[in-house]
Amino acid sequence: MASSTALSCLATLLLLAAAAAPASAAEKETRLRVYWHDVVSGGPNARVVQVAQAPSSNASATGFGTVLVIDDPLTEGPNLTSRLLGRAQGIYVSAGKDSLSLLMAMNFVFVDGAYNGSSIAIIGPNQADRAVREMPVVGGTGIFRFARGYCQLRTHWFDAKTGDATVEYKIHLRHD
Ligand SMILES: *[C@@H]1O[C@H](CO)[C@@H](O)[C@H](O)[C@H]1NC(C)=O
Ligand SMILES: *[C@@H]1O[C@H](CO)[C@@H](O)[C@H](O)[C@H]1NC(C)=O
Ligand SMILES: *[C@@H]1O[C@H](CO)[C@@H](O)[C@H](O)[C@H]1NC(C)=O
Repeated sequence: MASSTALSCLATLLLLAAAAAPASAAEKETRLRVYWHDVVSGGPNARVVQVAQAPSSNASATGFGTVLVIDDPLTEGPNLTSRLLGRAQGIYVSAGKDSLSLLMAMNFVFVDGAYNGSSIAIIGPNQADRAVREMPVVGGTGIFRFARGYCQLRTHWFDAKTGDATVEYKIHLRHD
């Protein structure tokens, strides 16, 4: 009696172990790089719109309180004319009153290449004047289900007059 209980406990443990194993064994690791183009200039062709700002009585050098919505191209290479892989859709908010720090909340929605139809969700701080910034990837869809990871941002090009910028995103993910 006692030994059959022990056996059934062991069987249960083995079943639990077997059920738990595939999740970690099946986990994939993906590294990708895209170039994010903040297209502020260009009038009707702009892909950035400012939707809110702080009242002038609260104006700060960092633009604290400004909210922008983006639908920016993500390309394979640094040139805006290179292959379009996806869109960065979301918002960024100037969230630092004393220093330049953006809160970014974006979906990278892939429209071509190996990740077409999938997306990843990025939310994090971007101290845009630093050489390298890091933000978490908090989830994903399609082949990036259960994604988590991080991305590192490096400004590739910036036009201080227009605000147009190209930023390299190196993304490191673990996912199903
Ligand atoms: C915004 O400006 C108002 C009026 O000058 C002031 O009372 C308030 O403290 C300011 N808020 C911030 C966050 O600086
Ligand atoms: C981007 O590509 C276009 C067209 O191929 C080319 O005219 C332009 O010089 C390129 N720009 C850069 C910065 O390489
Ligand atoms: C990307 O996927 C969509 C939806 O499945 C499809 O309509 C489209 O043709 C694909 N694009 C490319 C370039 O493969």
